[in-house]
Amino acid sequence: MIDKQRHLSRRELLRQTTAAGVAAATTFVPMRPAIGQQAKVKIGLLLPYTGTYAALGHNITDAMKLGFAEAGNKMGGREFELIQLDSEADPAKAAANTNKLIVGAKVDFLSGPVHSGVAMAMAKIAREEGTITIISNAGANAVTRGMCGPNIFRTSFSSWQVCFPMGTEMARRGLKRAVSMTWNYAGGKEMTGAFREGFEKAGGEVIKEILVPFPNVEFQANLTEIAALKPDAVFAFFAGAGAIKFVKDYGDAGLKARIPLYGSGFLTDGTLRAQGEAAEGVFTTLHYADSLQLPANIRFRAAFKQATGRDADVYAVQGYDTARLLIGAMDKVKGDTGATKALIGAMEDTRFDSPRGSWHFSKSHNPVQDVYLREVKNGDNAVVGIAQKAVSDPGTGCGLA
Ligand code: PHB
Repeated sequence: MIDKQRHLSRRELLRQTTAAGVAAATTFVPMRPAIGQQAKVKIGLLLPYTGTYAALGHNITDAMKLGFAEAGNKMGGREFELIQLDSEADPAKAAANTNKLIVGAKVDFLSGPVHSGVAMAMAKIAREEGTITIISNAGANAVTRGMCGPNIFRTSFSSWQVCFPMGTEMARRGLKRAVSMTWNYAGGKEMTGAFREGFEKAGGEVIKEILVPFPNVEFQANLTEIAALKPDAVFAFFAGAGAIKFVKDYGDAGLKARIPLYGSGFLTDGTLRAQGEAAEGVFTTLHYADSLQLPANIRFRAAFKQATGRDADVYAVQGYDTARLLIGAMDKVKGDTGATKALIGAMEDTRFDSPRGSWHFSKSHNPVQDVYLREVKNGDNAVVGIAQKAVSDPGTGCGLA
């Protein structure tokens, strides 16, 4: 046994151990042999279904299902199955979870995650294995920069892309001294870093960057510090349940009237009902807004509401576009998942008439898209204007760019 194991490749070893892992961890992964074109296409989803980002994972998944259902639940004429795995938004489990899907369940396509730390591990393995992977939320810049690969696509945004324009905008408004606050992990730090870059380039100064451990929501001491610092404004990145708590605490601490609150749009997306009055007047930048008066958006929001009973948000839009990307490419190759080059080419050529507006992929496979300036008014993320048009991530370090 020991001798035999010594001769196994790392890949084979992984295949054996993770196949056992998936079988043990889930009940829905069929471990049957492939039967060529007749086998169901397998799409692995690594998304958070528990914890602070749970609502985000559910909206991405349900909007994907809506997109698939609208296409008759077939892609390239073939049936398919979704293999959902809870990422728990935990980077420490990300490599093992990715291996469960790629090596264990042998998925044809991989999609997810929400958390940037999970994305870094997932993209690294997907690149090595060559699995076509569509990032449906996480903004980690590196995924479409230094870590980019021909088989890695992102339908959401890069952290830089949605935050740099807010730095410029806040300086344009005459704000001079700002404090930033976020969770202490790649996603948060990249967002406040991009805000800082835009703000300081335009003449502002970030006087303090506050970091709190992910996914903690004990903000009181930090809010007391902000009150003492008396900045002109605060820029924050939080999302999901953490964003709800932060915006409410900011209001309860009496800061909102004295120090205006800005952020990337995740601070107020999918959260407004729970935040209530506390969110009114918060300015954010994002590649989407509920109230966009585009036919594709109006239609999508109605369909999502009917299918789920919930309101769509940016996460739902990203899931929907991910499903439509997959369907379009698979239709082009008539369901031949082995036609990797043609599939990648079809994806690269996709032009989206999305609920967020029209967009396409950059050479490094990140969306080129408008970033909107939004203000919360009467419980809605109202579009105030376009903060920056057709924003393309700088894509530094990607051989494809
Ligand atoms: C990220 O970790 O990149 C992230 C998480 C939640 C969001 C946006 C970005 O809403």
